[in-house]
Amino acid sequence: MLITFEGLDGSGKSTQVKLLKKHLIKENFDVLALREPGGVPIAEDIRELLLESKNDINAITELLLFSASRSELIKTLIIPALEAQTIVILDRFYDSTVAYQGYGRKLNLDHIDLINKIASFNIKPDITFYLDILPEDSLLRKFSEKSLPLSFNDNNLPLDRMEKSGLDFYRNVRMGYKEILNNEPERVHELDALKKPSNIHKDVLKKLIPILNASKKTTF
Ligand code: TYD
Repeated sequence: MLITFEGLDGSGKSTQVKLLKKHLIKENFDVLALREPGGVPIAEDIRELLLESKNDINAITELLLFSASRSELIKTLIIPALEAQTIVILDRFYDSTVAYQGYGRKLNLDHIDLINKIASFNIKPDITFYLDILPEDSLLRKFSEKSLPLSFNDNNLPLDRMEKSGLDFYRNVRMGYKEILNNEPERVHELDALKKPSNIHKDVLKKLIPILNASKKTTF
């Protein structure tokens, strides 16, 4: 089973991934938790390029690099894990590409769909949790995490390359996530990122437990 978490930077995905992993291990499931971009050496190298490069990267190159990183991770770790009935939890997957490169960078959505299918070897998440947060709040969290003064227009801020894309970019990314939610309400579940992490975790379990129980019945 593949479970993915999505949302803007600073929406609290990583905390939810950790909480869910801990819960599932306690329940005796085999679990693998990973993040995109990254997870295997080549994908980590690509991550470094994407997030830390001081050079300009055009939107198509960015799309292809995120996708290249994904294909490495999927082929090397995720397909074998899923074949071994491991529950895989992913912090970001192809919905990030639709939201960030499609709606944020305004690339052609049909092209993105095709590239997503290729890079993910047609693997689809069984369930996706989308943590909704306003871009203003997500950026505020990032600034306070790094103890930075609140200013969105300073090029010298120690933010990564994506985080420097500005508020309008993040507004479009959020709109993209809302579109994905509308298009696939069966798969994608919206959570309120401003709730307490422990309460968000409860909301996650409420949705997930029936699905896990159903999958146990079909496996055994
Ligand atoms: P990361 O530090 O993992 O951010 P976060 O903690 O918010 O998940 O950086 C990943 C960045 O890459 C984030 O800004 C989202 C972006 N991204 C894309 O633009 N497209 C993609 O396909 C993926 C996977 C990530």
